[in-house]
Amino acid sequence: MRNKVSIIGAGMTGSTTAHWLAERELADIVLVDVVEGMPQGKALDLFEALPVVGKDAKITGTNGYDETENSDIVVITAGLPRKPGMSRDDLLTANADIVGKAAGETIKRSPDAIYIILTNPLDVMAYLAMQVTNLPPQRVIGQAGILDSARMRAFVAMELGVSVENIHCYVLGGHGDEMVPLTKASNVAGIPLNEILPAERLEAIVERTRKGGGEIVSLLKSGSAYYAPAAAVAQMVEAILKDKHLIVPASAYLQGEYGLKDIFFGAPVQLGRSGVEKIFEYKLDVEERAALSKSAEGVKTNIEALRTMVKL
Ligand code: APR
Repeated sequence: MRNKVSIIGAGMTGSTTAHWLAERELADIVLVDVVEGMPQGKALDLFEALPVVGKDAKITGTNGYDETENSDIVVITAGLPRKPGMSRDDLLTANADIVGKAAGETIKRSPDAIYIILTNPLDVMAYLAMQVTNLPPQRVIGQAGILDSARMRAFVAMELGVSVENIHCYVLGGHGDEMVPLTKASNVAGIPLNEILPAERLEAIVERTRKGGGEIVSLLKSGSAYYAPAAAVAQMVEAILKDKHLIVPASAYLQGEYGLKDIFFGAPVQLGRSGVEKIFEYKLDVEERAALSKSAEGVKTNIEALRTMVKL
């Protein structure tokens, strides 16, 4: 039997995720959205592309949840995207309703699923999904770290003219402007970034990484990034379904790691068929620890706001 991935929210990120997944023949796909006809149209269009690329996958579009039954993975991207000048946190209120409903409807039909959350503010929405589904923390993961790290890798590649494959970057913390791009653990073919790049160029890359999502929002004028976020989800889905034990930066529920408790927060996690198998800890210097605490404060504040709002 083929694996099944349901994607809630068939907008830009959701449908692009379906595209990456179908092209890699990773699973049958269900696209769910509230807009009538849209998920059905996108599913049909994508299915009609598969004879050309020579891949087999069943692709279903729907406005309901019954078709999601027995999913192995549920990806939640439903929500409102950021508009120019809007922070990810501004989206909290509107998106909590949407994600809460999506999580509640899907868990009834797929009690064994692993959840990947994209809707922003990401770390808080992952927390909400865990509460609503009542799943163990290993089975709820937020997509953010692969994306933030990929952006940093892209900027280093542009700077040095080196293949993206040689560049390994690690971004920790909340998926917001206080995220913590690591400059010593990140490297080019093993050479730490702080040794290969002049300090001011490295600082510029760190800043651009932190504001990477906003840069795309300003350029697009309407909507937010979707190619890179969707590619990141596809990598997570593949790691889980193929039980790869792949270590990637992602938002996971911390229970003491990095001195933090009871929040979803970006850290290196090992992904396999049971979800988050392990969370790794870097030895951070004083400055990195301080930056991480600042980022954690932001996430904690939003989780508190959510708890008051939806009475968790
Ligand atoms: N149930 C299902 N789908 C919904 C619901 C709902 N209750 N409410 C909204 N949607 C759908 C919208 O109809 C839309 O098609 O979610 C989709 C969101 O898609 P886009 O507006 O294209 O936004 P996108 O760029 O995909 O971003 C979605 O992911 O990266 C994050 O910050 C981003 O929170 C945002 C989310």
